[in-house]
Amino acid sequence: MRILIVGATGLLGKEIVCLLSSEHEVIGASRHGPDLSLDLADKASIASMYQQLGTVDAVICAAGAAKFAPLESLTDEDFAFSLANKLMGQVNLVRCSVGHVTPGGSLTLTSGILSLHPVTGSAVVGIVNAGVEAFVRSAALELHGKARVNVVSPGWVSETLAAMGQAYSAGTPAAVVAQAYKRSLVEAITGQVIPVKKP
Ligand SMILES: NC(=O)c1ccc[n+]([C@@H]2O[C@H](COP(=O)([O-])OP(=O)(O)OC[C@H]3O[C@@H](n4cnc5c(N)ncnc54)[C@H](OP(=O)(O)O)[C@@H]3O)[C@@H](O)[C@H]2O)c1
Repeated sequence: MRILIVGATGLLGKEIVCLLSSEHEVIGASRHGPDLSLDLADKASIASMYQQLGTVDAVICAAGAAKFAPLESLTDEDFAFSLANKLMGQVNLVRCSVGHVTPGGSLTLTSGILSLHPVTGSAVVGIVNAGVEAFVRSAALELHGKARVNVVSPGWVSETLAAMGQAYSAGTPAAVVAQAYKRSLVEAITGQVIPVKKP
């Protein structure tokens, strides 16, 4: 398969590339490449990236930012940034994929555990993750027969916890999370939220 991976240079993206590149042609994208550039927050850049890309069998997005901060410190700009980036960025990635994904192809987005299990500081992230999941359930209905659409919902990733000075063992290693993206790619599922919990 020919697979576009958005966020290919990130913690999760690198593991997804590593997992899939021996069997598939992988094209990596992010704001700074490595193969193609796009900014999820800029719909025109997504459309432009697809023009350069041509046709793929699958798109995986392991990118998108949202502001993590206590509710009372969040500004209007923080809400707007988060909705435009991780939520509408991924929605627009799907919208712009029409005509660039082979019939029956696979589209996989990323949400996160904070949609269901909030912590202090997760108000906007929770909105964004829940929005991505709701979009996927709905888009899967409408794209039925054209493309499969799923979303991987990781819990805390071990490497991220370690970088925050917390216990690596409390999370799921990125290489394990990557397996969930492969599941979305190869299994005949659509409209699913694929949770990744600590093993
Ligand atoms: N790590 C965790 O514990 C965890 C847990 C649950 C959910 N998630 C979600 O998983 C996703 C990936 O997380 P991660 O930890 O792998 O992130 P990361 O290491 O920070 O990597 C982010 C990747 O996305 C690209 N990127 C960032 N902003 C972008 C934009 N506006 N447009 C296009 N590409 C962009 C980055 O490359 P450039 O800088 O070149 O753009 C990079 O390749 C995020 O949506 C995150 O919320 C992560």
